[in-house]
Amino acid sequence: MTEDNLSSHLDRASLAPDPEFTAHANGTQAMYAEAEADHEGFWARQARERITWARDFDQVLDWSNAPFAQWFVGGELNVAYNCVDRHVEAGRGDKVAFHFEGDQGDTRTITYADLLAEVCKTANTLASLGVGKGDTVAIYMPMIPETVFTMLACARIGAPHSVIFGGFSAEALHTRIADANAKLVVTTDGQWRRGKPAPLKMAVDEAVDHGGAVSPVEKVLVVQRTGIEVRWTEGRDVWWHDVQPGQSSTHEAVPHDAEHPLFILYTSGTTGKPKGIFHTTGGYLTQAAYTNAVVHDVHPETDVYWCTADVGWVTGHSYIVYGPLANGATQVLFEGTPDTPHQGRWWEIVEKYGVTILYTAPTAIRTFMKWGHDIPERFDLSTIRVLGSVGEPINPEAWLWYRKYIGGDRAPIVDTWWQTETGAIMISPLPGVTTLEPGSAQRPIPGVSAEILDDEGHPFTEPEKVGYLVLTKPWPSMLRGIWGDPDRYVDTYWHRFGPEYYFAGDGAKYDANGNIWLLGRVDDVMNVSGHRLSTAEIESALVSHHAVAEAAVVGASDETTGQAVVAFVILRSEATDEAAADEDGMIASLRNHVAKEIGPIAKPRSVMVVPELPKTRSGKIMRRLLKDVAEGRDIGDATTLADSSVMALIAKGLGKG
Ligand code: WT7
Repeated sequence: MTEDNLSSHLDRASLAPDPEFTAHANGTQAMYAEAEADHEGFWARQARERITWARDFDQVLDWSNAPFAQWFVGGELNVAYNCVDRHVEAGRGDKVAFHFEGDQGDTRTITYADLLAEVCKTANTLASLGVGKGDTVAIYMPMIPETVFTMLACARIGAPHSVIFGGFSAEALHTRIADANAKLVVTTDGQWRRGKPAPLKMAVDEAVDHGGAVSPVEKVLVVQRTGIEVRWTEGRDVWWHDVQPGQSSTHEAVPHDAEHPLFILYTSGTTGKPKGIFHTTGGYLTQAAYTNAVVHDVHPETDVYWCTADVGWVTGHSYIVYGPLANGATQVLFEGTPDTPHQGRWWEIVEKYGVTILYTAPTAIRTFMKWGHDIPERFDLSTIRVLGSVGEPINPEAWLWYRKYIGGDRAPIVDTWWQTETGAIMISPLPGVTTLEPGSAQRPIPGVSAEILDDEGHPFTEPEKVGYLVLTKPWPSMLRGIWGDPDRYVDTYWHRFGPEYYFAGDGAKYDANGNIWLLGRVDDVMNVSGHRLSTAEIESALVSHHAVAEAAVVGASDETTGQAVVAFVILRSEATDEAAADEDGMIASLRNHVAKEIGPIAKPRSVMVVPELPKTRSGKIMRRLLKDVAEGRDIGDATTLADSSVMALIAKGLGKG
């Protein structure tokens, strides 16, 4: 995969922390023992030291109604005040909050004072459109400053937001708007993608109109980003530029209860229906700020921090909006793509702003490896001092490349394991403290406890034995549930190994040094480019196509994206002639159908038309066997199949028999 063998160049001693780094690091070795000795006391200290409370809390954790947690009971705070106002009040209003870099090369510098004015104007705008505390707001926007203003304005008012990634379809948007009962949608006319404008509001129109059905949406607030033509619904649609600029730039940040809902974020589960994971106020902000300080080692006075995630995912929530802003950091906010206008775009940005901390995903790193190290080598990356990875396991080869060509052979890499559900980082090295192990997320951060269980639910520590990752103590930024479905919350996370273990859905093992290695999902959830997709959701999209009788989807390993979506379909008999006449056309139509139903991110890499699917006697599809086919391996144990000739039929159909 690479031109040189990186591991043979590795000086293992260099993976120990540099004493110079340790001397200034936010995280310390002592924190582990401190948190171990007094779990609640440790978190109470983080909450009081990092967050400004309007009313101090009376109780750290109420776990009496487990697994429904309450953290910092009785406490009151305003998240937007913590992320913006208090920095301005402390005389840091001139400090840059965001260096915004647009897709078209347009830029904006937003100081904390600017951010305060914009958030207040946006909060007043939302209020003028009838949004009050407890109302939900859907946000369907690209990576522009107005997206951040809107999220913070919602937090300020106490209106939970539901950000829906701009790559999701109108259909996916409709489901999420309905589930959260959103009364306002904030969107843009269009979004820039690789130098071209693409419509965005159009999907909102489709989602809200949805065949004339009743929608909870009363208003649609539209930021003009591209100038692309839009359809306008009088009385419902409102231009941002008509209402936001004229609002007052002050707005009182009233305190909210520590357990007031902050946001809902939909993620894929093992069924066709996405789960609305919801997070609350005090615990979430505490852990987002704490982890951004000790794991990314953000020093707001000197660092320029860049998290490349989209705000549509949890990484963007916790590590662009809430954590870094609570800490008063200076950030880069980037709307574009890595290869437009050229493959050095990211490194040009690092050089331009003097980025010191970069947080990205393994899939991006593997793409850069493919493009070649001579591209980053053309830029000055010497300011980089911490690198982060998130979203999927980072293979040691990619880790070593990242370290060498981006981190100048010196920057510590933090491989951070967490989930939409955990709200913030859970397992990761601490830079300046941990001796690094390439490819491993290593150990739970101070304040977090994890174990690996065997099939019977017993914890073990033997190296190299594969088991299930569980979390053994509640944590402040834990999900408080699934929106509107408390039973599903209990069943999904607290049932498999009993009520004392949070089951993450990931396989894991220890190495001989006690480091934890994450091994991917153990359920029917795929991870494509660090994005979570459900096999069931894509299967149900496929069977909604007129030509499909049955579908099975697997995540096949892929060099760049980690996993890729591979679909196997059985066609309806009346569609077989159509397919025989134009097989490529049929396959393209199926792939596009998935993109339309869910979004381009879910579009299968390949679709294979098969005469049968392998099933057990109880009718369950054996995806393991299909995965063997998709990954080009010999087919594994097929003895539990109801009809053992099926795999031969499939192989024959694919021209491999
Ligand atoms: C799943 C969560 C965490 C924010 C982005 C994804 C996988 C995440 C790592 C890592 C190995 C990882 C897990 C997890 N994952 N980070 N550092 N090493 N696996 O959030 O969409 O909620 O997905 O991503 O499988 O369960 P998400």
